[in-house]
Amino acid sequence: MKTNQTPDLNDPVLAASLDRKVAEVKALLEQIATEFQPAVLANSLGAEDMVLTDLVMKEKLPIGIFSLDTGRLPGETYDLMQRLKRHYGLILTLYYPRNDLVEAFTRSHGINAFYESIELRKACCHARKVEPLQRALAGKKAWITGLRAEQSEARSQLLVHERDSQNGLEKFNPLASWTEQEVWAYIRRFDVPYNRLHDKGYPSIGCAPCTRAVQPGEHLRAGRWWWEITESKECGLHVKRA
Ligand code: ADX
Ligand code: SF4
Repeated sequence: MKTNQTPDLNDPVLAASLDRKVAEVKALLEQIATEFQPAVLANSLGAEDMVLTDLVMKEKLPIGIFSLDTGRLPGETYDLMQRLKRHYGLILTLYYPRNDLVEAFTRSHGINAFYESIELRKACCHARKVEPLQRALAGKKAWITGLRAEQSEARSQLLVHERDSQNGLEKFNPLASWTEQEVWAYIRRFDVPYNRLHDKGYPSIGCAPCTRAVQPGEHLRAGRWWWEITESKECGLHVKRA
């Protein structure tokens, strides 16, 4: 059975839309590399970020690629980091949480305190993701993400190019209009390495304790912070001020 993750590569409509979108993203990445130096790509090792990584590496674009290693990532994500080294000769630039912040959080609240309240969950995300992101973006002119509008209600109005006033630089979301099927058509067509958790029912991948597989028909981010009952499941990396 064909699913979004195993699209029919012989479908002419899909092939045509993929060709067009790949050409657009390539042109955009080239423009970013020319006009917004230094520029960086934020790679979470999810499917979307692998599409962008593949384009940056194949086109040899001068765009740095970084990951935020929260210290709580799944083994499959670390395994993919290592496979990138073999496949592209790419060693991701890793940013780590400040040890004083993590020590303060875990000593006050406990190692898995993020299950106890939204406030503690956000505090953990702040120490392990948001603060390291601020360091990763310091001094940069643009950052590139794998965000897609289809991923959630909160992202439905996503633009390809926006000003990230919180971090003081340009933000590009080149895959904003891509469907999940197009992402996977790219991965299959170009044999791009991907996170093995995608084969185990994880459309969206974050930290191990905060991500689980989804059931068929559930929405793409249902497995993120699954115990929280809230419309907007965001960790703070992409939250906009009203
Ligand atoms: S999150 O805000 O809920 O964590 P999501 O996992 O959907 O975000 O990823 C959206 C985009 O944020 C990714 O395509 C990537 O650009 C960036 N991102 C998320 N997590 C990380 C990470 N650990 N390291 C680097 N970039 C990340
Ligand atoms: Fe902490 Fe979970 Fe946020 Fe990771 S996703 S930083 S473990 S609360």
